[in-house]
Amino acid sequence: MHKLEGRVAIVTGASKGIGAGIALRLAADGAKVVVNYARSVEAAERLVMTIRDAGGHAKAVQADVSKPREIDMLFDEAALAFGHVDILVNNAGIYEFGDLASITPDSIDRQFALNVKGLILATQVAARVFPPAGGVVVNISSGAGVTPIAGAQVYSATKGAVDSLTRSLALELGARGIRVVGIAPGIVATEGTSGLGEEGMAPFVARTPLGRVGQPADIAAAVAFAVSGDGGWITGETLQVGGGLRL
Ligand SMILES: NC(=O)c1ccc[n+]([C@@H]2O[C@H](COP(=O)([O-])OP(=O)(O)OC[C@H]3O[C@@H](n4cnc5c(N)ncnc54)[C@H](OP(=O)(O)O)[C@@H]3O)[C@@H](O)[C@H]2O)c1
Repeated sequence: MHKLEGRVAIVTGASKGIGAGIALRLAADGAKVVVNYARSVEAAERLVMTIRDAGGHAKAVQADVSKPREIDMLFDEAALAFGHVDILVNNAGIYEFGDLASITPDSIDRQFALNVKGLILATQVAARVFPPAGGVVVNISSGAGVTPIAGAQVYSATKGAVDSLTRSLALELGARGIRVVGIAPGIVATEGTSGLGEEGMAPFVARTPLGRVGQPADIAAAVAFAVSGDGGWITGETLQVGGGLRL
């Protein structure tokens, strides 16, 4: 029997990158997976086909997680498709780079609206609809949450907030059997980081003890552990998953 048989997971921002890797892995471990996306319908549908071709269960659902009403619709669609939800992976996130002078009110709002507000409101709905036995929320943070990056002040601040929320929500929800676990990737090769190129990645790789860039599957393996019974005694903690890199 697969480890996650009978479980239903929503993975936000799963059309690409780390989220797609997590969706693939949770489906391979037996979960039914809702592949959330905002714009990339083709990529999301392709991923769903890949999961189904491998014998898994998945459905693509469009929702902009920075918009509260669309979060409600995402959970409604998930329940319609698979009956219930007991795993939420808050993965959708954006990162914008530039010095202090380049920060605008809009860039602050965009990053906090998705990385923090969307994560809180999705977790609020999850806590409302999870079965009485409980569930698991995984927050995809970043190494930048504890070691902020110059030139990514706002983004780093959003991930610091995510780490704080992982702790505070775990304290509140533990009594209901709901675990909240943070997974903080180092540098990972995704569509989002592709613009850095090999040259941009090189300084990160040089400071990574395991000597390479992370892949979505590396992060997905940690998420699969966190949501499984093997991770059942972990809550309120953020696990650094970056090959030893401190950003
Ligand atoms: N890559 C790294 O090195 C790295 C390191 C540390 C932490 N992280 C974190 O890992 C997560 C994923 O990063 P990534 O590099 O995989 O990103 P990515 O390649 O840019 O992919 C982002 C995903 O999020 C979705 N998305 C964007 N805005 C959304 C919204 N408003 N609502 C719902 N989905 C939305 C995108 O879907 P559409 O294309 O459909 O818009 C896409 O599927 C983020 O939280 C990021 O902060 C990444």
